[in-house]
Amino acid sequence: MPAKEPPPVTIPDFARWKGDRRKISVLTAYDHTMARLLDASGVDCLLVGDSLGMVVQGRTSTLGVTLDQMVYHAEMVARAARRALVVADLPFGSYQASTDRAIDSAVRFLKETQCQAVKLEGGRRVAPTIRALVEADIPVMGHVGLTPQSVRRLGGFKVQRDEREIMDDARAVAESGAFAIVLECMPSEIAARVTAEVPIPTIGIGAGPDCDGQVLVTPDLLGLFEGFSPKFVRRYADLGEPIRKAAREYVADVQAGRFPGAGESFR
Ligand code: KIV
Repeated sequence: MPAKEPPPVTIPDFARWKGDRRKISVLTAYDHTMARLLDASGVDCLLVGDSLGMVVQGRTSTLGVTLDQMVYHAEMVARAARRALVVADLPFGSYQASTDRAIDSAVRFLKETQCQAVKLEGGRRVAPTIRALVEADIPVMGHVGLTPQSVRRLGGFKVQRDEREIMDDARAVAESGAFAIVLECMPSEIAARVTAEVPIPTIGIGAGPDCDGQVLVTPDLLGLFEGFSPKFVRRYADLGEPIRKAAREYVADVQAGRFPGAGESFR
């Protein structure tokens, strides 16, 4: 008998897990091959993050990522996921101008991909947008603290320490109907207080151990993104060197005429 597939994660599972104090695991994914591998690991949620602007496209910020690019990546990831809930980032410029614009952008993810939810950045400023999306039946994950799309206003990717700002933003996101909220780069004590205060699960990145869940950027976790490595990253593998080694061996084999061999050729 083939092993029974575990049931897919749903939006209501997130609320239940917060109540049960069951920690939630989230990883970013940008393509089908990696999403298949990650989904098989039992991760609860795959986030098609606009961090792809930096770790896939090689930009210095996420600002240049377009809605078309996000939909393209989200489609590949969502097609791979058997169990994990798939959430896609609304990129910079796709939701700020008006709630109508936000709904049009978010609808693309639900119509053109198998994603279950969208994520957007900001607190009180975007509360009406979150409410409008939720009223249009589009599940929303919020994101407060360090919001990379605000990098120009913030003057860099800095730890956020204003507890009142963060708390008010998180409350506004929860009250607007978001089903979960990312807390990025803030002291652990602030994240712990937000987690105790808001009724929706908090997913931390650089926000300490007391969040209801954690998210990491997968190329960071795998040691594939060898540029800047923030303090909060834990590298679970160092795949950069094995990849370079495999490619070097291939190049040497091609140059020496050792590849392909008889067993790798047709007769
Ligand atoms: O874009 C992204 O990958 C994110 C995570 C870092 C939370 O927003």
